[in-house]
Amino acid sequence: MSFFEIENMQANRISKLPPYVFTTINRLKNEARMQGMDIIDMGMGSPDLMVPEPIRKELCEAINVKHINRYPAGDGSIELKRAIAYWYGKRFNVDLNPSTEVLVLIGSKEGIANLSAAFLNRDDYALVPSPTYPIFFNSVIIFGGTLYNMPLLPENDYLPDYRGLDPAVLRRAKLMYLSYPHNPTTVCVDRNYFVDVVNFAHEHRVIISHDAAYSEICFDGYRAPSFFQAEGAKDVGVEFHSFSKTFSMAGWRIAFVVGNAGILKMLAKMKSYVDFGVFSAIQKAAVRALELSDDMVAETAAAYQRRRDVLCDGLDKLGWKHIRPKATMYVWTPIPEQFKEMTSMEFASLIVKETGVAVAPGIGFGEAGNDHVRFALVEPEDRIAEAVERLKKL
Ligand SMILES: Cc1ncc(COP(=O)(O)O)c(C=O)c1O
Repeated sequence: MSFFEIENMQANRISKLPPYVFTTINRLKNEARMQGMDIIDMGMGSPDLMVPEPIRKELCEAINVKHINRYPAGDGSIELKRAIAYWYGKRFNVDLNPSTEVLVLIGSKEGIANLSAAFLNRDDYALVPSPTYPIFFNSVIIFGGTLYNMPLLPENDYLPDYRGLDPAVLRRAKLMYLSYPHNPTTVCVDRNYFVDVVNFAHEHRVIISHDAAYSEICFDGYRAPSFFQAEGAKDVGVEFHSFSKTFSMAGWRIAFVVGNAGILKMLAKMKSYVDFGVFSAIQKAAVRALELSDDMVAETAAAYQRRRDVLCDGLDKLGWKHIRPKATMYVWTPIPEQFKEMTSMEFASLIVKETGVAVAPGIGFGEAGNDHVRFALVEPEDRIAEAVERLKKL
């Protein structure tokens, strides 16, 4: 059977997905490498920092524990759930019941996808900001809900105008995806913002899914709030956290979601049919991660802050507009004036071909991102300085 026939046989849920933007960027990177070009890769948000030593040590020890190789407790070991509840109390002053209000995930991307799977029927609207981390809209497309994009506009400080939505949309809205500090725009919110979100959720019976993947990567003394610091939040939603960014454990695939016990029960039910949870040795190492002193996490944030300064100072000198982020590991940059006619994919392709600097085209985060590119701060400071030098060539 030829390749083209196979392509015609794919399920609608796959064919409706937008093209994966890194396929093009990766091809261009490889072509540039073949020509001997050194690539400074600031495309994907894949942390390059070492996982802190105590976590690595714990994994090495755990791997030798008898029976560690058996199928794990699908929804997470009670030790890890207790450690998560304890960390939450310490960090956000929020009480969680480890048995019912905590669920361990194989990465938050997995958890978010399964949340859409667990709740969305065809007529249900999922309210999703645009631009955004792609799993929010892609999971709605894959699992057959109705995607409703909420554009993030400068006149609304890049916050979604959920209160201005058409009542017909609100009547059918079942789920709203939010995430602060925000990838890719880097916008941050305070506790009062979540108070309004909770009121909105109560008024319109909408489940809130808040993703706090970058809550610990904050700069200049800023501390990101938890959704659950707003009263009544547990009645309406859940919050995702990841070990990927806070502890640089992206490849280990472990995260967690906390909050409304009923929502978590449905999510756990969905998961129990499709996965077996996270390898027990990694769960043990994750317990160790949550026990680390706050200083270690602060060091990680400080490393990203120094990188941010190098990049933002450099972009200022080049005259490239951007917002200096208060949090996250990204810098979201409008396509500079002289290249305004280009799409984000054309501009990102030009950069990688001409300079060997790889960035993420904004279109990958939704149509509304097509006039931006995103730099991920996943190269050391000297390499970022070198990237800025190379961009001068443009
Ligand atoms: C907002 C957001 N959520 C989740 C993830 C993925 O997290 P995980 O590695 O836990 O799947 C990312 C990764 O870039 C992200 O930006």
